[in-house]
Amino acid sequence: MTELILSLDVLDRKRAVEIAEAASPCIDAVKIGYPLVLAAGLGIARDLGGLGLPLIADFKVADIPNTNRLICEQVFAAGFDAVIAHGFTGTDAARACVAAAHDSGGACYVVVEMSHPGATEFFHGGTAERLANLAVDCRADGIIAPATRPDRISVLREIVGSKAIYSPGVGAQGGDPEIVARLVDGIIVGRSIYEAPDPAVAAREFARIRR
Ligand code: C5P
Repeated sequence: MTELILSLDVLDRKRAVEIAEAASPCIDAVKIGYPLVLAAGLGIARDLGGLGLPLIADFKVADIPNTNRLICEQVFAAGFDAVIAHGFTGTDAARACVAAAHDSGGACYVVVEMSHPGATEFFHGGTAERLANLAVDCRADGIIAPATRPDRISVLREIVGSKAIYSPGVGAQGGDPEIVARLVDGIIVGRSIYEAPDPAVAAREFARIRR
């Protein structure tokens, strides 16, 4: 079954925990990025640890190999189970993230194409395909591909084969969960759940759709 990953981009620690708890029966993982970590601190990973769900650090790591390694080691020491890295910094840099993740028993996913309109300026024209190949070469655990462009997911699937594809852009950015859920291993949903009048109900609805 396609996984449902909650993107928890709220800025208040208490609200974040409440939303994650409410949605937890229907979701498979929680993705946390800079907005929540900068607002609530890295300790938010421990605060959410009690849910028993995998925690994905969406830090889109994009530095030199040594700095990438240092960042990823901190991510896993903080209690995360997976990290998201950029691939455009090169094979050696992405490989450093994958190695740090695997050394900690965690996973690393590489962004190969983003979901917003401006992403086409640089990712199209062969770059996303090259990044997907890079993710395969680096033995990344999966890629991040845009729910806003299902046709692109199909192209990228040809390259990565059975490797996991996680896809943000469902709901608020316009991606159709019914279409995308059939193409990927997990849909990533943020605002359409955490801004809903009842996040638990919204999560249940997305969980029903992806079946
Ligand atoms: O609120 P929404 O559902 O649009 O949230 C999508 C989440 O996925 C955000 O945290 C965003 O930063 C992230 N993301 C994305 N597109 C990518 C990679 C990550 O929207 N290609």
